[in-house]
Amino acid sequence: MSVCTVAVAQKKTTLRKAFKKSFLIGAAINIRQMNGQDSLAKPLIANEFSSISPENDLKWAVIHPQPNEYKFETADKYVALGESNKQFVIGHTLVWHSQVPNWVFVDDSKALVTKEVLYQRMKEHIETVAGRYKGRIGGWDVVNEALNDDGTMRNSRYYQIAGDEFIVKAFEYAHAADPKAELYYNDYNMYMPEKVKGAVRIVNLLKEKGLRVDAIGMQGHWHLNRPSLEEIEKSILTISKAGVKVVITELDISVLPNPQRNTSANITDVAQNSADINPYTNGLPDSVQVALANRYKAIFGLFNKHKDKIGRVTFWGVQDGNSWKNNFPARGRTDYPLIFDRAYQPKKAYYAILETVK
Ligand code: G3I
Repeated sequence: MSVCTVAVAQKKTTLRKAFKKSFLIGAAINIRQMNGQDSLAKPLIANEFSSISPENDLKWAVIHPQPNEYKFETADKYVALGESNKQFVIGHTLVWHSQVPNWVFVDDSKALVTKEVLYQRMKEHIETVAGRYKGRIGGWDVVNEALNDDGTMRNSRYYQIAGDEFIVKAFEYAHAADPKAELYYNDYNMYMPEKVKGAVRIVNLLKEKGLRVDAIGMQGHWHLNRPSLEEIEKSILTISKAGVKVVITELDISVLPNPQRNTSANITDVAQNSADINPYTNGLPDSVQVALANRYKAIFGLFNKHKDKIGRVTFWGVQDGNSWKNNFPARGRTDYPLIFDRAYQPKKAYYAILETVK
């Protein structure tokens, strides 16, 4: 029996059991976990989580790198894994300005295409990908990160070509591809009042057009001291008042100094690594471990309080060694943002979260 199986067997409950009556509890998984190569993660993912998200492998650049080339091998394994684990399987993401090939936006002379051409490409992509997993992927991040922090529209190439109508089209195509799938708008920094208002504007626009939209995703790439619980709570209430569910889609809590003093998940916001922003290369001091546990406990206390408004809480990764935070905003740091450690053992934060449902 592996170390991990022993740890899971000795615990009295699991997250998925403890939160069964509250909300789905998920984790984003990577290619090795989808392929079954990460043998220690396998039982942990199956036992602890009632939902899975694909960290990278359903993004446009990965699954549809060339106009006539789709690569479904890994995504097929991902969806089958979720089914065998009886998990709610998430699709991430159909329309995002990042991890999307250049050819989507340009013609042979490298000029931006017309919106008709863009829509034709989006339609074909969404019909093919969401259509392939019809009835098997339960919810899609249809559009990801279309907003600036002040709530205005991000000047992505989607926006440059089509204005905010590209969002309407993406939801229209996604619903046509799988009418039963839940559809989400997803973004980071959703604790910011102006940004969440922008997301509500998107939801209202979709509703005016008679389109399905089930939830707004608050990614939740947070820090030990920011954002405040009050800020998070206000956004949960704002989203709920707009008539859709809240889904926490990408939760992690960095314990490292934040060189930019912001909570961006914009992958272009890079910083230089240095010893002063990478202090825990030899392990996490107990005081910080406890601070992380307390932070998770407070956040889950808030989620429990609003469980009628929250459909799912998903961690962005399984264990600390997998986390994208080790490479963002500075590459090669040692962060500890999740609730399982690099040996796949539950951290104090894991038990603190369980305590919130006692
Ligand atoms: O697959 C290649 C590999 O072939 C190559 O050798 C290696 C060299 O760097 O790169 C690998 O690709 C990396 C990929 O993750 C898979 O590991 C990319 O460089 C790296 O940029 C990419 O990062 C991902 C990032 O999205 C890209 O935008 C992170 O893993 C992923 O956690 C992150 O997830 C996003 C969400 O989708 C949306 N919200 C924000 C969140 C964090 O940025």
